[in-house]
Amino acid sequence: MTMVVLGLCGSLRRGSYNRRLLEAAGLPRGVTLEVYEGLADVPPYNEDSATPEAVRALRGAIAASDAVLIATPEYNASVPGHLKNALDWASRPFPDNALRGKPVAVVGASTGLFGAVWAQAELRKVLGTIGAHVVEEELPVGQAHDAFAPDGGLADPNLRSALADLVERLLCEVHTPVDQPA
Ligand code: FNR
Repeated sequence: MTMVVLGLCGSLRRGSYNRRLLEAAGLPRGVTLEVYEGLADVPPYNEDSATPEAVRALRGAIAASDAVLIATPEYNASVPGHLKNALDWASRPFPDNALRGKPVAVVGASTGLFGAVWAQAELRKVLGTIGAHVVEEELPVGQAHDAFAPDGGLADPNLRSALADLVERLLCEVHTPVDQPA
C-alpha cells in the first residue's frame, strides 16, 4: 500500500529554497510526497466565518495523509504568517483536528547562516500544542542559495544524510507513534 507524505511549504514564492528542500527529501519506494499547492488560498483565520472551501481542502489533505513534512523559511525570527494561519485553521475543531496524532517533521532553509532554526523551533512548539506527533530533530539549511547540488539534492553530504535520517524517523512514527506502546 502506498504511503502519502503531505509536504507543506512555508514559502509561496516561485523558486523557493524551501520548496526545493521538500523535493530533496528522497522518499523510499512506496512513499509518495504530495506537495500541497493550496496554502495561498487559505484566508485569514476568522472564528465568525463558516469554514472556507480552501480550509476544508487543507484539512482533508492532512487527514488523508500518513505524515506531514513542513519546510519553512524564517521571517523576522519566526514562522511565516500564512503558514501559522493555515495551521491555526487546521487546529480546529480542537479535540479532533486533522493534525491530532499525525506524525509531522519540520525542516527549514534560509539564505542566512542559521537555516531558519528559530522558525523550526517555533513551528514544533505550535504543532505540539495542536496535538501532532512532532519529530524533535531539526534540519537547518543555511545559505540556501548555495546549498543544492545539480541533482536537486543537498550538496553537503552531512546535510543530505541528516535529511534522509529525519525522513526515516518521520516514517517510523507512522507505525509507532511516540507516545504509544509499539
Ligand atoms: C527573511 N529572511 C530571513 N532569514 C533568516 O535567516 N532569518 C530571518 O529572520 C529572516 N527574515 C526574513 C523576513 C522576510 C519578510 C523575508 C522575505 C525574508 C530571508 C529568508 O531566509 C530568505 O528570503 C529565504 O530564501 C526564504 O525562503 P524561500 O522563499 O527561499 O523558501
